[in-house]
Amino acid sequence: MSRFEQIKTQLLAQPKTWLVTGVAGFIGSNLLETLLKLNQNVVGLDNFATGHQHNLDEVKGLVSDEQWQRFNFNQGDIRDASTCETVLKGVDYVLHQAALGSVPRSIADPLTTNAANITGFLNMLQAAKEAKVASFTYAASSSTYGDHPALPKVEENIGNPLSPYAVTKYVNELYAGVYAKTYGFKTIGLRYFNVFGQRQDPDGAYAAVIPKWTASMISNEEIFINGDGETSRDFCFIENTVQMNILAATATDEMKDNVYNVAVGDRTTLNELYSAIKAALIDNDMAIAGEPTFRDFRAGDVRHSQADISKAKNNLGYQPQFNIADGINKAMPWYCNFVK
Ligand SMILES: NC(=O)c1ccc[n+]([C@@H]2O[C@H](COP(=O)([O-])OP(=O)(O)OC[C@H]3O[C@@H](n4cnc5c(N)ncnc54)[C@H](O)[C@@H]3O)[C@@H](O)[C@H]2O)c1
Repeated sequence: MSRFEQIKTQLLAQPKTWLVTGVAGFIGSNLLETLLKLNQNVVGLDNFATGHQHNLDEVKGLVSDEQWQRFNFNQGDIRDASTCETVLKGVDYVLHQAALGSVPRSIADPLTTNAANITGFLNMLQAAKEAKVASFTYAASSSTYGDHPALPKVEENIGNPLSPYAVTKYVNELYAGVYAKTYGFKTIGLRYFNVFGQRQDPDGAYAAVIPKWTASMISNEEIFINGDGETSRDFCFIENTVQMNILAATATDEMKDNVYNVAVGDRTTLNELYSAIKAALIDNDMAIAGEPTFRDFRAGDVRHSQADISKAKNNLGYQPQFNIADGINKAMPWYCNFVK
């Protein structure tokens, strides 16, 4: 039995109380869904900066009434230290997802990104230490690899950050390391590589590439590829990401004070991605017309990204269950339903 299966069995037998920050967002609402389906108690925190009530409503429809009763939602802001203290009462495991994502957003407004991603992070970290939670797992980012040229990316070798967003995510790791050394409060950072799947927001200027292109294809809108289309990413389906959060939260102390890549270990170019989404939509009976328009490379973007996931496999028992094709096939019906 995999470690993930073992942990799920243990959690079902002995439910815990989890805090999911950013619970109304893409990753947070998927964590909520899985945890409630495992009969866990979940405290949620979100200020709806980029998250949506409809994500919570959708999860409500996917779990039983009894499971939904185990969810305690708090609308609030991680930039407020007392809010962080309040929501931590009685919590065993923290999954800290709340932050402002997007490289371009951080370039347009570095101060707001800094406040949520650094001040908000530090508030949560400090409050979690004081509350003596059993574990603190946080959303780090592959953007921390910055301009380091090596592929695949190994946790220990990072370059210089290329955007304000990348700075904030790296500062999270620095604070986490200092909290381990100074206070003995050991955490786990998960360096997500381009997560995608159901409930990832297709709307707005800062939407991620898969939901944005999918929605544009469905609505017959023009699609832009930044650069020559040979930029590549290690796209990671949401269910792999959920698995890693649960594995990290329940890890032994020796595996903590660490960061782990969360990805598949593959590389897909934007040109390949475009073809894969188009094919999946045609499979879902969508008529897709037109060709993409190529334009300039985007500031702050890394050219290639691919993870070495051996550390997560060896230390935490991570076994990604979905490659990009599986993930796209699983997510497409949701998008077809959501966008229409
Ligand atoms: N999606 C990815 O590919 C990816 C990659 C690397 C890292 N991450 C990180 O994963 C985490 C979750 O990202 P996501 O893709 O689910 O984004 P998302 O925008 O869907 O979710 C983030 C959630 O945090 C909430 N939030 C933002 N600021 C807040 C604040 N000040 N107080 C309380 N709540 C706040 C938002 O309202 C939203 O619901 C973020 O930390 C992000 O930086 C995501």
